[in-house]
Amino acid sequence: MQNPTSFLKKFNYFWKRSQFPEQGPIQISTIDKLIIFLICTVISIISSYKRLLVPNLEISDVFYWGVNFAEVLFICGFLILVSRKENPNINSRQILLITSLLLIVQLIKNIFGPGLSPLSIIVPPALIISQGMGTITALAWVSIASISWPDSIIDINSNLILITLICSGFVSVLGGRIRSRAQLLQLSIFVPIGAFVSQWVLIGNEETALVDNQDFFSLNGQIFSDSLLLAIIMLITILFIPIFESIFGLLTKARLLELADKEKPLIRRLSKEAPGTFEHTLLICGLAEEATRMIGGDIDLVKTGSLYHDIGKLHAPNWFIENQDGSNNPHDEIDDPFKSAEVLQAHVDEGLKFARKNRLPKPIANFIPEHQGTLKMGYFLHKAEEKKLKFNESDFRYKGPIPQSKETAILMLADGCEAALRAMNINASDYEALKTISKIVTSRQLDGQLDDSNLSKGEIFLIKKSFLNVWKRIRHRRIQYPTTKNNTFS
Ligand SMILES: [Fe+2]
Ligand SMILES: [Fe+2]
Repeated sequence: MQNPTSFLKKFNYFWKRSQFPEQGPIQISTIDKLIIFLICTVISIISSYKRLLVPNLEISDVFYWGVNFAEVLFICGFLILVSRKENPNINSRQILLITSLLLIVQLIKNIFGPGLSPLSIIVPPALIISQGMGTITALAWVSIASISWPDSIIDINSNLILITLICSGFVSVLGGRIRSRAQLLQLSIFVPIGAFVSQWVLIGNEETALVDNQDFFSLNGQIFSDSLLLAIIMLITILFIPIFESIFGLLTKARLLELADKEKPLIRRLSKEAPGTFEHTLLICGLAEEATRMIGGDIDLVKTGSLYHDIGKLHAPNWFIENQDGSNNPHDEIDDPFKSAEVLQAHVDEGLKFARKNRLPKPIANFIPEHQGTLKMGYFLHKAEEKKLKFNESDFRYKGPIPQSKETAILMLADGCEAALRAMNINASDYEALKTISKIVTSRQLDGQLDDSNLSKGEIFLIKKSFLNVWKRIRHRRIQYPTTKNNTFS
């Protein structure tokens, strides 16, 4: 009978494997940590120093200043924590952007006081953060910027604070989903109009009466000019978003869609110089997109990442099976498994070079090495075994890293399944196709390729099902290229 302790250990192991593995955020250098801490300290000082500027300073004033200072420092730390949780790949430049925006906002509050509408101060940065770092980070930023006022909040109309919170919350939620610059422009027109109407209803009518014409027009004139200022600042922000994208490495939805344009020079080159790879890429896009939709991942990211994943094959297109016409294979001519393995690894290294040259954002460039992970180059490893050559297994493995996100892991699985599904008989049943998909996915799992990807067992099941759905959809119009059982390398 099984020992209860080892049974519990096994149970614990399987339980942990079935849960979402935690992905650790990327490390930030000490100097960057120091700069971020300094910015947070300055934010805390400018948010709380006015508590010390009272006549006849007492010990209780110093105490309340200390509490206020610590409070702001704590919420800055909380903001960084939220942003790192939402974006495990967030870098120090992006954290610097979030904290610097908060610093600028607190400075503006100090300089202009209640004279400047909080709408114009808080809504535009919320748009930048939601576009570049997601809705949750933007919402956390908005709540901190709305709560922390250097001057007494009594000076500002409470309805105006409420309208600011609603408008910036609206911008944060929509900003994280907006997929084109045109929608951004619409947002920058409709939000100020909404702010104007709600201010007119909640503030304009509350403080003035129609009978008092002078007050009525001056207040509504101010509401109008505040909303106009908000519209102008939002439009300027939209103009500057591409600059923020390039300086801080932000990856907005609009940028992703621009990169996914098949008329981009690099993609055009792929379709001309490596048509087989281009076809393979398009099929993989379909597989990966469906699987990502099924598990609720980032569809735009996976679509764009798939387009560029094999861009490195441009360095030697005819060395890859999908670009060969079946007549001559350069691998047979050199007849050296080590050299062939180097050519395969080069499609990753050259791909990264193409990514750098074409300034592809890091989350897209990550698809290039991670889609191959540390997979075995089985075909050439067998060749080396057949030739009885001396080798280490690592000579015939890609250098990695293994997929670090769900999206790159899906691409790896789609990449493996595409060649096998393409090579399958046109009359194969759904059961046979699912068996093939499961075999490939399980082999990747057992090889430890999915260990850092955050994919749960349930999600892997859904991915397999979605691959089968795509296979069912495309099999009637698929094109078969010469792929035999043992040379489905990619
Ligand atoms: Fe590849
Ligand atoms: Fe590929």
